[in-house]
Amino acid sequence: MTSQPLLQIEQISKSFPGVQALRNVSFAVNIGEVHALVGENGAGKSTLMKILAGVHQPDQGQLIWQGEHLHLHSPADAQRHGIRIIYQEFNLLPDLTVAENILLNREPRTRFGFIDWKQMNSRTAELLAQLEIAISPEAIVRSLTVAQQQIVEIVKALAGDVKLLIMDEPTAALNPTEVKHLFTAIRRLMSQGTTIIFISHRLDEVLEISQSVTVLKDGQFVASQPTNGLTKEEIVRQMVGRSLEDIFPPRLRANADQPLLEIRGLTTPMLRDVSFKLYPGEVLGFAGLEGHGQREVARSLFGLEPLRGGEFLVDGKHINMRDPRAAIDAGIVFISDDRKLEGLALTLGVRENVALPSLGRFSRYGLVRKPDEHKVVAEKVTSIGVKTPSIEQAVRLLSGGNQQKTVLAKWLIKNPRILIFAEPTRGIDIGAKVEIYRLIHELASAGAGIIMVSSELLELLGMSSRIIVMRNGQVQSELAGADATEERIMLDATGS
Ligand SMILES: Nc1ncnc2c1ncn2[C@@H]1O[C@H](COP(=O)(O)OP(=O)(O)OP(=O)(O)O)[C@@H](O)[C@H]1O
Ligand SMILES: [Mg+2]
Repeated sequence: MTSQPLLQIEQISKSFPGVQALRNVSFAVNIGEVHALVGENGAGKSTLMKILAGVHQPDQGQLIWQGEHLHLHSPADAQRHGIRIIYQEFNLLPDLTVAENILLNREPRTRFGFIDWKQMNSRTAELLAQLEIAISPEAIVRSLTVAQQQIVEIVKALAGDVKLLIMDEPTAALNPTEVKHLFTAIRRLMSQGTTIIFISHRLDEVLEISQSVTVLKDGQFVASQPTNGLTKEEIVRQMVGRSLEDIFPPRLRANADQPLLEIRGLTTPMLRDVSFKLYPGEVLGFAGLEGHGQREVARSLFGLEPLRGGEFLVDGKHINMRDPRAAIDAGIVFISDDRKLEGLALTLGVRENVALPSLGRFSRYGLVRKPDEHKVVAEKVTSIGVKTPSIEQAVRLLSGGNQQKTVLAKWLIKNPRILIFAEPTRGIDIGAKVEIYRLIHELASAGAGIIMVSSELLELLGMSSRIIVMRNGQVQSELAGADATEERIMLDATGS
């Protein structure tokens, strides 16, 4: 027996100025399932979800909700039907409490019309307890971890009567333990009959949590199928039209014996006596469990951490690494994992973002020479393959992968010799990943030294010439060649 789907998406198309985000997309979502939606950056996943959430109206096509036509004119409309979305960039108010966020605009009132704080906290505590979550309703959201904030988002969505919960990349900022908690919460929701659309670039997660997988590519429907029997390789093939073996370029080795960069005894509040060398032509990977100092190593090399001790030598010469300026002057650039915070000015255009750190180069007598700037930026943006209708496009309108490439463009026009990548492919799809890997490979082949901090073991193993494993802020081991295996890294990282 086939029961009626909860939702049928039929022939949906949607254009934005200069981009056709969706073209004739059709598939069905069954009641009570976790339905994964996957596809490369810019495939149209978020756009489709915003249509389901009443944020965008489709240009063409229709939605059938429990057998009937559904017309959504606003987010409030969608909410009335029991459709809730948790956005990629979530929207909590950091200075309010957990309870205030969860019951925003639905605050229980006393009979005099004032907010009933007691009710508010006890109602929130009830909701949290349903999901067996130990967060205080009175905690200020700002003080919570990202994972806890994510849970608050879910509880907030559940405070209404939710039939369909859409989660757009809920795990992007979570560590494996936090992902486990999130999945427990999702399974509990499912058992209560809630249907979930789950967007993630991590295919292991998709295979673990979903019952169905739909693949989009370039705004078009590729396939919709049961998860059971599906492999990661097959999903990748559907997403990018190429197989897993073609993802990593050949492994590189140092191509000179004088180190480009030498670090001696680096010590910060987080790091203790970290020493290593980086040679031209190699990718030096840093592995470790979340919070064991890898991130701080990367940031220290760009003058972003308070130093307690240590020496930095570039080409054998001492550098006083007091701030990013000193790092940039020494030919070091940092491609941060936090594109929003450290990388990009989202409201500015691609051109302005890419030119920002190089303004000196484009100015004469204090005036920016626009034609020069335009030319250099346009060339870099094209050679890196940033997909944008124009270099004047506001960066916030680009997909995650294209934002990451914009960050790269901005640093590459400085011709750096040492590039530090922190989680270079976090939250971006496999197609954009392959392009970033190819760029890293090209840079190293041309003699740059690359440092790569990543929590994705596959990526570290696929890309690194050598891997340093960090534990408790110290170097635990250095692995290369046959020693560098997933198992060995995990053993060293956990100290077992
Ligand atoms: N408000 C908007 N204005 C203009 N273009 C947009 C807007 N929203 C999305 N786009 C464009 O539509 C296309 C689809 O974007 P969308 O955000 O849906 O992709 P996605 O699959 O969610 O990608 P990602 O995995 O990077 O989040 C992209 O080319 C994007 O730049
Ligand atoms: Mg998206």
